[in-house]
Order: sequence, then structure tokens, then C-alpha cells
Amino acid sequence: MRIGLAGLGNVGAGVVRLLHANRDLLKARGVSLTVVAASARNRDKERSCDVSDIEWEDDPRALASRRDVEAVVELIGGAEGAALDVAAETLKHGKHLVTANKDLIAAHGVEMARIAEESGVQLSFEAAVCGGIPVLKTLREGLAGNRIDEIRGILNGTCNFILTRMGSDGADFATALAEAQEHGFAEADPSADIDGRDSANKLAILSAIAFGIVPDVSAISVQGIRKVTLNDIRSAAQRGGAIKLIGHARRVDRSIMQRVKPIFIPFDQMLAGVGGVINAVEISGDFMGDLMLQGAGAGGDATASAVVADLIDIARGLRCPSFGRPAASLVSLTPAQRANVG
Ligand SMILES: NC(=O)c1ccc[n+]([C@@H]2O[C@H](COP(=O)([O-])OP(=O)(O)OC[C@H]3O[C@@H](n4cnc5c(N)ncnc54)[C@H](OP(=O)(O)O)[C@@H]3O)[C@@H](O)[C@H]2O)c1
Repeated sequence: MRIGLAGLGNVGAGVVRLLHANRDLLKARGVSLTVVAASARNRDKERSCDVSDIEWEDDPRALASRRDVEAVVELIGGAEGAALDVAAETLKHGKHLVTANKDLIAAHGVEMARIAEESGVQLSFEAAVCGGIPVLKTLREGLAGNRIDEIRGILNGTCNFILTRMGSDGADFATALAEAQEHGFAEADPSADIDGRDSANKLAILSAIAFGIVPDVSAISVQGIRKVTLNDIRSAAQRGGAIKLIGHARRVDRSIMQRVKPIFIPFDQMLAGVGGVINAVEISGDFMGDLMLQGAGAGGDATASAVVADLIDIARGLRCPSFGRPAASLVSLTPAQRANVG
């Protein structure tokens, strides 16, 4: 399958590296994926991947109209602007679209899925939630026969790194945040992470697939970790637990409770032991019972792993509704169906 790649940053370069490194492996698995053209802002920028055999497009939207491109991968980021333009253009041209963009999917995913269904193409976004962890595939496919009752997880590696450093080394919030930025785990403007918005976008996507609802961040009660103090962390440890930023969605009668909040997790629960930039998600299904997935929730290589998995499914001809059911059947929660989060 021939691919147009919009964005050559951390994740885009990771995709190119993976496809070079594992080309023979993928071939042995019956899959051939080739990036024929790519686009980014600055053509002259040094890339952490070999782009010598990839053609360049100044305008990422041009990838969608190329006759030699069957699928476009959007790795620019942001809910609007160039990312949305590329996505819209790709679907308009009746081509498959893969993205790692949680902002885009939380804001426009349902409409995009509807267009993809009408055009008979695939819209996939595994990498948008928890980087390399195949959590959407697990929910949508592995647990497809279950009623999902609850999802609970550490959905943001930056916050988990900060809280872990505060807990294990007694660093205060500002020091731990500065360290996260030094390591490249936090953006120069870390507010989307530490104020919980990044986790909320991911939870909205998880809830959509789990409960068949339209992703709606405004239905989620969101509190970040800015106000967590060293004292809070120490007194949690004295009470036998850790403070973790948890995205939590649960059926409550005929309503859905959705919340992102730093909460106390006793040390004997697995989520308490998930440290550093690692993400983890617990899912409860009515027949499966409980399961937990844990792994790298970010980073170019791990996220590329999820992007390429989506591409492999498409190349194999596997089709699955993006949210696990027809987009038109997703329901919007009424205010009465938003369970009190307490
Ligand atoms: N990084 C992670 O660990 C991670 C994990 C999960 C999901 N994601 C998601 O993956 C996406 C990409 O993230 P990233 O970390 O790879 O971002 P990044 O390193 O900032 O890369 C963004 C890329 O998009 C290009 N770009 C920006 N604006 C553009 C425009 N107007 N036209 C064309 N190209 C443009 C940039 O070009 P230049 O390079 O020329 O500046 C760059 O190559 C985001 O949606 C992010 O949320 C990232």
C-alpha cells in the first residue's frame, strides 16, 4: 500500500524508521507499505529518518490528491488548521486516513467516521489514545462481544512522570515539571497535559467506543494536577497509596460518569505501581471481567508502532467501524445522562 505522510516530527519520523527497519518482517507477514510522498513545514530541516526516496509536497493537502497515494497518515497535530484540512481532503478523495491526533478525533471524529463509512474507506486512530498501547483495538475488536461497564486509566505520561518524581524523590511540582520538560516528556507549554485536557480528549474517545456515545469533552469533569502538592503525595503514601491522574468512565444506571481527576490509589491496586511516563488502562467487560493494558503511551517509536498497525490492517483489507459501530448510531449524552461525578 502506498502512503502519503503528513508530518515528519517525532511520530512521522518514527513511522519512516519503522517501515525501513521492519520492511522484510512486514513482507514476510504479507504486507508491503511504502511512503511515496511526505510533507512538513520545513523542507530543509534535518530529519531523524531517511527521506531520500520519499517525494516532497509543500502542501500536505496535495498528498490526498496524488494518484499514487492510497492512504494518508496525518501526524501534524491540532484539532483545526492543516491537520483538519489534510483529513478532510483525504476523505473527500475517498482515501483511507490514519491519524494519531486525539484533538482532531475528539472534536471531529464522528463526522469524519461518517464520511469514511459513506465512501467505503477506513478511518483509524489507534495512536491517538495511549500511544503504542493497542487499547482501541482491544475495546473495538477483542472485547467486541462484551458490554463495557468501566474504563479507568493513566492516560497521560507527562502527568504520571511528574507525580512519580514527586512521590519517589520528593521533588516539588515545579521541579518535576521542569525535569519532564528537560527530558522532552512535556511541551514548552505543558497546560494541555497538566490541566487534564489531553487526558479528557483520550477519555472522550475511549468512552465513545466503550459506550457508543459521541465524544464530548464538555461532558467530562476535568481537574488536572497543578494543585497537587508534595504534602498531598506524602500524606497519600502514609495512608498506603499514591496520587495518580486518572481518567475514569463508568456506567451508572442509564447514565455515564466521566471524569479526569488526581485521586488516591491504594498501593495494592495495579495502577498505583505504574510509574514514570508509562500509561495503563483497566477495562471491565460483562463477560470478560477485568483486564489491564500497560505500556508506552508516547514517544515516536511506540506511537509509530500503533500507526503502522492501523496501516497493516487497512493493507490487509480489514475494515472496522472507527468507533466500533456505525457513526450515525453514536448517541449524544443529554445533561440528565451525565452521571454526577461526586
Ligand atoms: N509525540 C508523541 O509521543 C505522540 C504520542 C501520541 C500521539 N501523538 C500525536 O501525533 C501527532 C504528531 O505528534 P509529534 O509529536 O510527531 O509532533 P511534532 O514532532 O511537533 O511534528 C509535527 C510535524 O507536523 C509538521 N507540521 C506542522 N504544521 C504543519 C503544517 N501547517 N503543514 C505541514 N506540516 C506541518 C511539522 O513540520 P516541521 O517538522 O517541518 O516543523 C512536523 O514535521 C499529534 O497529533 C500528537 O498529538 C504524539
